[in-house]
Amino acid sequence: MSIDRIAVVGGGTMGNGIAHVFALSGREATIVDLNQDVLDESLSTIEANLTRQEKKDRISTDEKDAALDRIRTSTDIADGVAEVDLVVEAVSETMEVKASVFQQLDEHAPDHAILASNTSSISITALGAETSRPQQVIGMHFFNPVPVMKLVEIVRGLVTSDDAYETVEALAEDLGKTPVEVEDYPGFVSNRILMPMINEAIFCVMEGVASVEDIDTVMKLGMNHPMGPLTLADFIGLDVCLNIMEVLHNELGDDKYRPCPLLRRMVIAGKLGRKTGAGFYDYD
Ligand code: CAA
Repeated sequence: MSIDRIAVVGGGTMGNGIAHVFALSGREATIVDLNQDVLDESLSTIEANLTRQEKKDRISTDEKDAALDRIRTSTDIADGVAEVDLVVEAVSETMEVKASVFQQLDEHAPDHAILASNTSSISITALGAETSRPQQVIGMHFFNPVPVMKLVEIVRGLVTSDDAYETVEALAEDLGKTPVEVEDYPGFVSNRILMPMINEAIFCVMEGVASVEDIDTVMKLGMNHPMGPLTLADFIGLDVCLNIMEVLHNELGDDKYRPCPLLRRMVIAGKLGRKTGAGFYDYD
């Protein structure tokens, strides 16, 4: 099946990055969000990131302008998904919100449309069960910053069809990404491995093993990570990190996934990382 028109539901960091790469690949992309301010911010972020790529000679001015022309926005989900071949849901990481979005997508998207989720930890099988087409529900997990990061985890729910999988795999390759096939287990592969590492770095802070800066330096210079784990936690958002640790802990039932108490306290204090101006580091 050819995927020419898509919608992204949720205009936050991941949503705008996903719309950016689809538009650059020549597809019509509609960003849907209830909040017009979020949509306006999303468009200006995409324009800034396309300009960044243009200045680095990664894309031409014509490619940038054409990509911007292919993006539209809507505050009405029924209108935004009415004529698409694929929807990528990128709303907040709570089952209640995602369940409601999938029910609406099932109602308003064309019968042939594939319904994908960018979830980082919620079960694709559970999202599929909210719809009448679970065989067309799949995980398409991108990484931040989406225009730069090559990986897409493609997550198969228990009843996701081979057709849907093959269509989404070919699509990810066409976007210039490297797809990896993953089964529907908590945290998939990426966050099953990444989040316990970040959580352990936070235990190191809490126990005074080393300073925040030195913990990051160990992982950057000793392991060649582009960002240390605490910088990365601030980049992802500490609320997202806590949420994913809770999914791993609750669903796998092993104490090795218990969230660090310092992580909990920072989230309660509203120190969520870059997006709130403070986390393990301060951002002006
Ligand atoms: N859009 C377009 N291009 C961007 C960009 C964006 N938002 N952000 C950075 N770039 C480009 C830059 O223009 C630059 O391009 P060139 O190679 O052409 O010069 C390149 O990316 C590198 O950027 P910078 O030179 O500004 O900075 P850097 O070298 O420090 O790299 C980084 C920045 C790519 C973010 C790097 O620090 C990095 O890879 N960090 C780790 C990111 C990571 O682990 N992400 C995954 C988080 S987990 C997640 O997303 C999923 C989840 O489920 C939690």
